[in-house]
Amino acid sequence: MGEESTQQYFTFLAGTTKNPVHLHVDRAKGVYLYDNKGRRYLDMIAGISVNNLGHNHPAIVSAVREQLDKFLHVMVYGDLTGQTQVDLARELAGHLPGKLRKIYFVNSGSEAIEGALKLSRRFTGRHEWIAFRKAYHGSTMGALSVMGGEYFKRAFRPLVPGTRFLDFNDPDQLNAITDKTAAVLVEPVQGEAGIILPEKGYLEAVRQRCDETGTLLIFDEVQTGFGRTGEMFAFQKYKVQPDILVLAKALGGGLPLGAFISSSPIMETLTYNPELGHITTFGGHPLSCAAGLASLRILSTELPVFQIAKKAKIIRDIFSNHPLIKEVRGTGLLFAIDTGTSGILDKFVRRSLHNGLITDFFLFDDSSFRISPPLTISEEELTFGCRLMLQTLEEVSA
Ligand SMILES: Cc1ncc(COP(=O)(O)O)c(C=O)c1O
Repeated sequence: MGEESTQQYFTFLAGTTKNPVHLHVDRAKGVYLYDNKGRRYLDMIAGISVNNLGHNHPAIVSAVREQLDKFLHVMVYGDLTGQTQVDLARELAGHLPGKLRKIYFVNSGSEAIEGALKLSRRFTGRHEWIAFRKAYHGSTMGALSVMGGEYFKRAFRPLVPGTRFLDFNDPDQLNAITDKTAAVLVEPVQGEAGIILPEKGYLEAVRQRCDETGTLLIFDEVQTGFGRTGEMFAFQKYKVQPDILVLAKALGGGLPLGAFISSSPIMETLTYNPELGHITTFGGHPLSCAAGLASLRILSTELPVFQIAKKAKIIRDIFSNHPLIKEVRGTGLLFAIDTGTSGILDKFVRRSLHNGLITDFFLFDDSSFRISPPLTISEEELTFGCRLMLQTLEEVSA
């Protein structure tokens, strides 16, 4: 069955690379994935910052089951509504500052970025966006247009015009933000760039320049949201508030869900001139909202129990001062371990799998590997996983 299924996968499903690792997952529970031969793998990336509470958390599964017995799709956006979606919006808003009150649910991070970009144009009447080099915001046309990497864009031009790119953490470039700029789109911690933290005062300087020019500030917290950095959201950690917040990944507790969030006056501009200016069939699907609500409720009470800072120290202690490691970058449970060597990561990821570990690389950093496990990982499991990663690195470097 295993090999037959692999063959069928490659026959019938579109790929994204010529040579994917291809692990056939049979089931997943907690911090482990199991393949169709019953082999166990420690998940050190949580589906790229999605499964923050681990796989198949019983409370999430039972919330989905409960919703399953009521209804699936009915046309949820505005005209026919459901309580689960309303509950998630209300409880999410409870975690956000007053000006981030209106939530527009969509299906993915890319789609939430599209919504946020459109909203910024509609509200300001301006055309230009500022984005950052090595930023990743998704693969749809709009999100691709604000991606900070030419390699992934070249083949798909022409894209949406009007974006200027700055270097993250360079305050001298912020004068590029002018009264023509509709929005600045930034990840408070750059993810696919290889976990680049904002330098002290940088996000404040971006905020200030946006205020001076009447520009909207959009934070893409698709990767950093829901406890990943140790706080519920990274903007709380760095104490800078955006005008529009973009969420996805962990928002849906393992089901597809994205959101862009803003104030009532900004969001209301999508309801007229044109009416139905941004619509979605499945956005805020009842099952996704049920899973997201269960996940949010657990995170709301249990985040401190996960001892994120203590676990971050474990990662730092294990990888720092090792001859094969050039730099350890990260915060919370969002880390890049920089080997300083390009070209070994494919081998490293495959060898990790062989050794029973799931890890990954970054789109814009060819010498680092990713550590973003479920926040529920125990200190013992994390220590084991990190040591095994080091051992794996030694094996592929030998
Ligand atoms: C920071 C960031 N923004 C947006 C996206 C796009 O999200 P999605 O893959 O759900 O479309 C991603 C995906 O990795 C991301 O990391």
